[in-house]
Amino acid sequence: MEGPTLMPSVKSACFVIIHITIWIIVPQLCHSPVQATFGTTPNIKHIVIGRCFTYTTLVQPGLRYDCEEIWMQFEKAVVQQSSCNVTEEHYFEMFNMMPQIWPCDSFLFWSKTRMLMHRYAAVFSHFWTLEDTLVGYLFNDLIWCGQEEDSDFDFNYCPAWSTCRTHPVYSLWKQASQNFAEMACGNITVLLNGSIVNAFNRKSMFGSVELDSLNPQRVNYVNIKVVTNLEGPHMFRQRVEIKQVVWIIQIDSCSQGSIIELIQILWTRGFRWTCTESDLTLVILQCIQDLNQPRCQMLANSLLQQKDLTST
Ligand SMILES: *[C@@H]1O[C@H](CO)[C@@H](O)[C@H](O)[C@H]1NC(C)=O
Ligand SMILES: *[C@@H]1O[C@H](CO)[C@@H](O)[C@H](O)[C@H]1NC(C)=O
Ligand SMILES: *[C@@H]1O[C@H](CO)[C@@H](O)[C@H](O)[C@H]1NC(C)=O
Repeated sequence: MEGPTLMPSVKSACFVIIHITIWIIVPQLCHSPVQATFGTTPNIKHIVIGRCFTYTTLVQPGLRYDCEEIWMQFEKAVVQQSSCNVTEEHYFEMFNMMPQIWPCDSFLFWSKTRMLMHRYAAVFSHFWTLEDTLVGYLFNDLIWCGQEEDSDFDFNYCPAWSTCRTHPVYSLWKQASQNFAEMACGNITVLLNGSIVNAFNRKSMFGSVELDSLNPQRVNYVNIKVVTNLEGPHMFRQRVEIKQVVWIIQIDSCSQGSIIELIQILWTRGFRWTCTESDLTLVILQCIQDLNQPRCQMLANSLLQQKDLTST
């Protein structure tokens, strides 16, 4: 199902800069849903315990976890701490309650490709993402923080991730991501967004935690798949000094931009890797949402032609 795979060789670099002095406004941290204006997600206890029973009863039956105990350890880690002072260590006991093993060749990592990743993982059901693990399933999309003087969560206000180093939400995801990456074995897949300035971002969860936690002894191949928006290169309106506006047309690809940095890191650490920009499954999944794109029309025509050829 794979399109032409690109090894270190060169490929069309279409990086057009229509002006010199640019300042690229790099987006803040990772895939964070947490905003400063919200407090802890209402009914968090019922949600987490409910998800835990759903997971252990329906999603992964056969696994035995103590959902009530997991909740208690979670609560213990978070409440009565100042909302910016919860480290990964605080969650150690909770993580000890939920050990999990995944089969090799099934680990899927992603950065800034969340929607597409979900569709991809739905097609290839053998893939595991962090969200499929028990901890990922329990805490996905939730916000929480404690308050120093109180033995309850703060339902009125939680700080944004970027305002503190040891945010309770960030620390949990950081530890979960690290555990997940440390377990990764066999071939792993990384889905990156080639339509943004830093497809590989050292500040993302993948770039800052997961990559460093991968073990070259356990991982056979790192298969990078770069996806770009169907409309073609993404246009960025950049602010420059002296109030000028420049347009940058950029694609981060296997042979250009931040992905080269990723490949260099992989190479230095002794990983084998491949990188492709034209994974047919991914293109088809994108086209399902927007068949009218010229690229999809071309693809549809070529697929239909093939059908004609085989039936004659
Ligand atoms: C953060 O936690 C440490 C130890 O867990 C404690 O010594 C420190 O006073 C706490 N800081 C704040 C601001 O609560
Ligand atoms: C890439 O990132 C842009 C900007 O965040 C987003 O609009 C687009 O949907 C992403 N592409 C994919 C394939 O996820
Ligand atoms: C692992 O990836 C390499 C390179 O893409 C490929 O040749 C090999 O068949 C893959 N093995 C498995 C088990 O998927």
